[in-house]
Amino acid sequence: MRANPGSSLRLPCRERTAWVLAVWGVCLVYAIVRYNVFKGVEWTHLPLYIVNKSAAFGGVVFIAMAYMVGKVFGGTPGTELVRAKAKFFGLAGFGMISMHALMSMILLTPAYYEKFFAASGKLNLTGEVTFLCGVLAYGCLLFPAITTLPYMYDALGMERWLRAQHMGYATLALASAHTFAMGYKGWFDLSSWPGSLPPITMLGFLAAVTALVVKLGRVIARR
Ligand code: HEM
Repeated sequence: MRANPGSSLRLPCRERTAWVLAVWGVCLVYAIVRYNVFKGVEWTHLPLYIVNKSAAFGGVVFIAMAYMVGKVFGGTPGTELVRAKAKFFGLAGFGMISMHALMSMILLTPAYYEKFFAASGKLNLTGEVTFLCGVLAYGCLLFPAITTLPYMYDALGMERWLRAQHMGYATLALASAHTFAMGYKGWFDLSSWPGSLPPITMLGFLAAVTALVVKLGRVIARR
């Protein structure tokens, strides 16, 4: 049986914990400072509404890192260490985005997200487009996540396994559309940024687009 690429090596527990604490920690502190401190969101909404923002932000950053590791963070692409890191970042991103999807569905009411709802109480066009892209992005993310299960490489063969892993690029493209659709109106009005801090929609969009641009650059360079 052939094991999945990257599965012969596991990052030490301390390193994995450090990555999660660093990435999620920075995202959480950013969300708290932007929304609770500067925008005046009540502290009552820290546990779910604000943590949801940090999970979405951290999740997209981890997924972008999974597809950039070895390309911009050093290390030889294709080595077991780089593959193990990509696997860990991808699974960390999947976990955080899964939490984000669950938390978003609990919070999904006009009281929290007025901009997604029409006066009728149904979703408006921004809401419909935003959630379509979010759900499709999540659907695409299931492919690389599920194929990291043990021995999927052997079961699928190299070509299909790689195709499934590359579905993460579709996730990144759809995540860009998800964040753009919900946030672009506020990106260019700098005076509306609490504490002069850019919106998380914009930072999430930039993280996803950066990974796509890096990939595009490599595809072009290989030709
Ligand atoms: C079932 C799938 C999804 C649902 C229902 C969903 C829902 C939402 C909602 C309601 C928001 C607004 C949060 C807020 O303003 O507080 C949001 C923001 C966001 N989502 Fe998703 N999402 C989904 C999937 C994804 C995926 C797959 C990604 C990335 C890979 C993603 C990344 C983001 C980012 C970066 C934000 C911006 C966070 C913010 O500014 O608050 N989402 N999503």
